[in-house]
Amino acid sequence: MRSKLFITKSFDSIQREYQNSQLKRSLGPWQITALGIGCVIGTGIFVLTGLEAAVHAGPAVVISIILAGIACGFAGLCYAEFAAMAPVSGSAYSYSYATLGEFAAWFIGWDLLLEYMFAAGTVSVGWGRYFTSFLELFGIQLPASLTNAPFTTLDDGVSIVLTGDILNLPAVGIALFVTWICYIGITQSSFVNTVIVIVKVAVILAIIGFGAFYVNPSNWTPFIPENTGDWGNFGWSGIFRAASVLIFAYIGFDAVTTAAQEARKPSFDLPFGLLASLIICTVLFVLMSAVLSGLVPYPDLNTAAPVAVALNAHEGLRWLSPFVVFGALAGLTSVVLVLILGQSRILLAMSRDGLLPAVLGSVHPKNKTPHVATLITGGVAALMAGLFPIGLLAELVSIGTLIAFTLVSASVLVLRYTRPDVPRPFKVPAPWFVCSGGVICCGILALSLPLGTWLRLIIWMLIGIVVYYFYGRHHSVARKEAQALDLRAQA
Ligand code: ALA
Repeated sequence: MRSKLFITKSFDSIQREYQNSQLKRSLGPWQITALGIGCVIGTGIFVLTGLEAAVHAGPAVVISIILAGIACGFAGLCYAEFAAMAPVSGSAYSYSYATLGEFAAWFIGWDLLLEYMFAAGTVSVGWGRYFTSFLELFGIQLPASLTNAPFTTLDDGVSIVLTGDILNLPAVGIALFVTWICYIGITQSSFVNTVIVIVKVAVILAIIGFGAFYVNPSNWTPFIPENTGDWGNFGWSGIFRAASVLIFAYIGFDAVTTAAQEARKPSFDLPFGLLASLIICTVLFVLMSAVLSGLVPYPDLNTAAPVAVALNAHEGLRWLSPFVVFGALAGLTSVVLVLILGQSRILLAMSRDGLLPAVLGSVHPKNKTPHVATLITGGVAALMAGLFPIGLLAELVSIGTLIAFTLVSASVLVLRYTRPDVPRPFKVPAPWFVCSGGVICCGILALSLPLGTWLRLIIWMLIGIVVYYFYGRHHSVARKEAQALDLRAQA
């Protein structure tokens, strides 16, 4: 039993899977970078940078962003090495199957489900908020019971209660719309994504460029507001708490690896796309949060639309607001798109390996997309978006991501010693420093998240273990192949 839990998928079979893939190989390095930026720039930059400055870190949110960026940078380099070695769909799930064994791969795959599917739901909720503001520009007011979640958490962060509202309808709507785009196919999806990325980066550059002229440096003092007495409320602990939430803002650069089978030259395109999108986004985040906290005193940013508040505080910047709403709507749409695209590829990989039912691995004969996996991913994301509040979802996503990053960083180091023979088109420089840095930074940030989030993570992972015990281990292709080899050896 023990050895079977550690059964690995061979790199040969991964290479074979890549050669036999029915998915179209249509993505070049810049399209992959656009896919990364498309997923990274979303609720994080439009909502969380301002909100975290207001409630946890003050103007020092800039430090939080850099800390989160460093953790992601370490993990990103490790993802790049992994992705170039095993250029198949499934991201960290597939890489760990080749290195750490089946159970660890299942654990990471189940954890990634939490990251992507719930993230698609979270960003859909963010989109819903901007959509409501968009309608308000035209004097249209949707009923609150149809724009808010029917469930919420109490102050203890653990208990979940009913709010009296019915459903977050705009959030459900966007999740289903994007699912349809993903269902149609990767070429259309990638084209739509590239156009949207150009729009949202232009809007962000406009906020930074015009906003810089209105910054009042006195808003930056005190740069690190004094801690209020509670862990995580300003001071250095607040900087760490904000960094752990802001991991959410960076999610997406790792999503490019889930499209590995659709890259034209994965050994170059993937590391390039990963690192380019991470660097570009870090620079934009730092500039944006510095400008926002310089435009108004940081407590004013405690709202669901902090960018609008900062702009509206200055007569000369108000004209930008409608563009921001438009950019945010376009931006968040592309984030949901990459997340649903990524999750469906992970489900595809898990079902091909026999750990989930085969129907999830079927590819649409005409569109060449994993259509069943896409519909299920989109359906669950829409359900989450319709029922739960943004805070609960975002924290769960952050913890799922940090655990995945920690495991990936550790795996790259392990593999350097256990499988030095496997060709590595891209190698992490100074692996002891970078991989350990990934484990330590992501581990510390995960520990900075609240207890309720940890409890929900543990429940989710326990459900995953039950599914593996009753389904996955009985249908695992790697196990069946190993058994067949054993029988042949005995004959
Ligand atoms: N990074 C993505 C966002 O901020 C998930 O919306």
